[in-house]
Amino acid sequence: MTSKDKLLFTPGPFNTSRTVKQAMLRDLGSRDFEFIAVINDIRRRLLTLAGVTNEEYACIPMQGSGTYSLEAVISSTVPVGGKILVVINGAYGRRIAQIAGALKIPAEMLVYPGNFKPHPAIEVAAKLKQDHAITHVAIIHCETTTGVINPLEEVGKVVGDFGRSYFVDAMSSFGAIPINLKAACIDYMVSSANKCIEGVPGFGFVIARRQPLEASSGAARSVSLDILAQLKGLEKDGQFRFTPPTHVLCAFRQALLELEMEGGIEARRARYQKNYEALMRAMRAMGFAEYLKPEDQSCIITSFRYPEHPNFKFEEFYCRLNEKGYVIYPGKVGDADCFRIGTIGRIYPSDIEDLTAAIGRVMVEMDIPTAQAACV
Ligand SMILES: Cc1ncc(COP(=O)(O)O)c(C=O)c1O
Repeated sequence: MTSKDKLLFTPGPFNTSRTVKQAMLRDLGSRDFEFIAVINDIRRRLLTLAGVTNEEYACIPMQGSGTYSLEAVISSTVPVGGKILVVINGAYGRRIAQIAGALKIPAEMLVYPGNFKPHPAIEVAAKLKQDHAITHVAIIHCETTTGVINPLEEVGKVVGDFGRSYFVDAMSSFGAIPINLKAACIDYMVSSANKCIEGVPGFGFVIARRQPLEASSGAARSVSLDILAQLKGLEKDGQFRFTPPTHVLCAFRQALLELEMEGGIEARRARYQKNYEALMRAMRAMGFAEYLKPEDQSCIITSFRYPEHPNFKFEEFYCRLNEKGYVIYPGKVGDADCFRIGTIGRIYPSDIEDLTAAIGRVMVEMDIPTAQAACV
């Protein structure tokens, strides 16, 4: 971070290391061998991070934000006549259904309340048994609306047993929460540059099992979002088909190196967990209540209920924190007024302590009593 940067407590984009930003201070030709080596290295490292081999899986980076990669997978792999079953317990599950709708792909939805961790394997099995038209099942790993982690493996085993394709949005979890793609029978997993790997925004990536991907040949409904064509291009000459975000990819390669230097997924999770624990200690001490039960809450992002006090106005709370250099995130749950605080990115428990001290000061400024004046 530069000294002028605010601290971002969001689900990304968020603060990145100085060295990740510095990696962008290069102009590389998108078809030059030096840049092709960067792409190859990223694809190889991402497969290693995912714990899979290049023989069985392929890594396909796609330009755009994470949603572009989600849309790329759905539009490229669900065949005409196919149908998708979407497990929904938040805004990002609904987005998958929205993408299917826009693509005129028939979709069935299993909708769960957002305020607890669902266990939808039995219902998924019942749907797959009863509806043979369903070819694909989609789920969000960390539903960033609340921070709940959905049970990937439980559902994936059912999907695998029924021989259907399994698609996982691991946007806000990959890199910090271990995912066993093979045990969870995952065919397609999507994440993006500016989440737990701590790069800057500009591309997403798909880790795809080669066999179903190759079998989906001809299903693509788009030229630019065709993941099989993108993979074939990358495997032919190592290049993106269309202009890649060169600087962003250089930053991402540095971010991957820094993830490895930190100790990999487990070490990153441990840092985020410490951030989360520091946050909860201070927020609870001030009387803030989280939306989820603690056992359902992940270390990625936390939704807090608005304090029940007539002086609390989220916009004012947000602006006062912002003026002090701290950026939080609005809520997204439908049935309660909440705001969110992300605990991912290049932040540490001391940053969380600074944030919560600032929250205490803002509560005094807004004349809202906190449970423990000592926190202020
Ligand atoms: C689980 C999940 N899916 C999808 C997205 C959308 O990603 P993007 O905003 O990069 O398109 C997000 C963004 O936070 C997310 O957390």
